[in-house]
Parts: sequence; structure tokens; C-alpha cells
Amino acid sequence: MIKCVSCDQTYDDNEIVYICEKCGSVLEVEIENNISKDIFDGRKLGLWKYKEFIPVDYSNVVSLDEGGTPFCRCDKLGKELGIDLYVKVEGSNPTGSFKDRGMSVGVTKAVELGVDTVGCASTGNTSASLAAYAARGGLRSIVLLPAGKVALGKLAQAMFYGSEVLSINGNFDQALESATRLANEKYIYLLNSINPFRLEGQKSIGFEIVDELGWKSPDRIILPIGNAGNISAIWKGITEFYNADYIDEKPIMTGIQAEGAAPIVEAFKNKSYSINPVENPETVATAIRIGNPVSHIKALRAIYDSDGYVDSVTDEEILDAQKLLARVEGIGVEPASASSIAGLKKLVDKGVVDKGERVVAVVTGHILKDPDVAIKASAKPIEIEPDFNQLKAILEKKVS
Ligand code: F0G
Repeated sequence: MIKCVSCDQTYDDNEIVYICEKCGSVLEVEIENNISKDIFDGRKLGLWKYKEFIPVDYSNVVSLDEGGTPFCRCDKLGKELGIDLYVKVEGSNPTGSFKDRGMSVGVTKAVELGVDTVGCASTGNTSASLAAYAARGGLRSIVLLPAGKVALGKLAQAMFYGSEVLSINGNFDQALESATRLANEKYIYLLNSINPFRLEGQKSIGFEIVDELGWKSPDRIILPIGNAGNISAIWKGITEFYNADYIDEKPIMTGIQAEGAAPIVEAFKNKSYSINPVENPETVATAIRIGNPVSHIKALRAIYDSDGYVDSVTDEEILDAQKLLARVEGIGVEPASASSIAGLKKLVDKGVVDKGERVVAVVTGHILKDPDVAIKASAKPIEIEPDFNQLKAILEKKVS
């Protein structure tokens, strides 16, 4: 059953509906389950390990074996911050971001509904993922991207997997408005995170985290917020496992926005559920360059219900954290993902994160998504002739 988060209006699972027809709020899929967690024993880690909690027909599944991503304990960085730190590396998904979890479920649902065209607006990763899963499911796909603001790796993916790519002279929020109109007029089945089935896949990040910790909740989960779907999804997953008695506690949900695109931070300061959209969002973290996050109500609910926190970080803090994670722990992420680490540092300094806390930082996309930023932030390669003496001279200079 699909249910409105604000007025409790319900819809059938097979109705194509994105926002509540009664009150205009966002929707979610309700899951009821009282099976024993023993059913998961011996199954391989990944989204479909938890198929009993995923409300689509598994016999039609469109999957690229998503999820089951690395869960890296980061002792060096953890020690520096005085916490017990784990990093969930979502860049290791099939197209390099967490979106694959949501897209596997979303495209499976599209096939189940019998639609022939799927589409989305995107800052890049959603389009890359949609393009791949639409190809896998044999569907036509249309993606709307903000012109000049999509990182190169993501653009290459959307084009190469065979989506019809439309470059909009506007920002993401405007592209999403157009995509929503196309969906309302039935040109496309919309696979942005406003589609509640997308979040049903992404909630598996929460499932995996507690499963990997031996059916225990961490003290805190920290992650970037853009359109606000993922934090809502992870909280939904955690809550479902808590309600099923698989875990005894829930984590403090902590979201991080980029300073130039932080309407949820402002709402949090005002203890409100409504946001003032940012007209011209700007940040080096193009993935979260979003001024009017559609799932803000769900995200703020996750934050308030978990005694959570939201803060913003500057572009400089994001780029510093991206480098730190790569150079101290060997984990390469795109700028938006590094806002988890930048935010964590800031909140440790502020005393919001306590010493000794067990924290899981979700890093959402792979470093190769945005090669331009990585190259710009690095020293240039040293050019030399294929001459061994020259090579030795350089190494001796470096070492001494
Ligand atoms: N990190 C990355 C790498 C992203 O691509 C996104 C969102 C987020 C974080 C934020 O997640 O929107 O669920 O709060 N990217 C979307 C896209 C908007 O179109 O690829 P969110």
C-alpha cells in the first residue's frame, strides 16, 4: 500500500502516483512484515538479500547485483577524530553510486506496471543509473540534465548506456519540474526519488549497515543531503528492522548539505518541516546542487525522530575532506560524498558528535564520477624521458 506521509491517504501499489492527490505531500510504501531474521542466514549481502522487505515482484527483477558494498573500518581517520568510524562505500555499486539500489527496484516496478518509457531529472548519478537499468530492463529512457553542471563521468554513462539525454538550460530543480510534468502527462514513468519505490531500494543501505554490525545499530549515520531521498530511505529501512525487532536501538541521523544549497539546514534551525527553496544553488559538489529538495518533509522527519542533526559545509571543507579520505584511508569519492566526512569533522569540532561514538559515514559516489575535480586538486604528473638515470634522480630527490 502507498500512503501519504502527511494526511494518511492511501493508494494501491499499482497506481501510478507521485504526490498525494488529496494534500500534495509526498508518499511512501508501507511494509508490514513479521518474519524472523533467520530467513536471511546464508544469503549473499546485497539489496535482494532482504527481498521480503522489497514490495515488488521478485520474479521480474531487474538487477545488476547492486548493494553488498564495502563497509570499511577506518581506524586511522577514526583515531584522528576520536570516534569508531566505518565508511559505507556506495561508489562500489554497478554504476558507481547508491542510486543503483533504488533504480533496481524502480525499474523492476516499471516493468511490473508495463510502462515502456522511464525518465528522470538528474544532477548526474540518477541518470547514469537509470540509463543502465533501463537498458537491462529493455525500456526506453529519457534523462533531463542541467546544462554544463553534470560531472563528466556521469554524463558519459548516461549517453553510453543509451538514454536520450536532454540538456536543460536551467538548474536541477527546473529540470525536475519539467520531468514531473512529462510524468503527469504520462510521457514517462518518473524514476526520481519522489517515486516511493526508489526509496524502497535505497533503504537497503540501512539494512546492510545493521546486518554488518551484527544486528546492532551504530550510534550515528551521517550522509550528504541533496534531494533528500537517501536519508529518508535509510531511516525507513532502519525503522522497519527496528519494528521487526531485529535491532534494539536506532541511530542518530545526521545530514550534511553544501553551504550554497542548504535549505534543510535553515528549516532545522527553525525547528520547521517547511523549507525556503534556494533560488540559485551553487557548490562544487554538483550532485547536491539542489535548492528545493522534494523529500524534505521525510528527511526532516528522520532527523527530528532520531534526535538528529543537519549542518552545512563549505566547498573548501568538502574538497579537503575528499583528499583526506583518499590519502589517509585510500577511499576515493566524488565531492558530494565527501561532505559526509567534512560534516563529521565539523560536528566533532563543535562537540555535536561525542568522543567514542560509533559512526557510519555513507559515501555515495565514486571518485571517477568527477575526474575534473580530482585532477584539478592534484599535483601534475612529472614528465621525464625514458631514461633510468633521470628516473633515479627524481626518486632520490623525493626520498631525501
Ligand atoms: N551523493 C551523491 C553522489 C548524489 O548523486 C546525490 C544525489 C546525493 C548524494 C544526495 O542524495 O538526493 O537522496 O539526498 N543525486 C541526485 C542525482 C540528485 O540526480 O543523481 P539525495
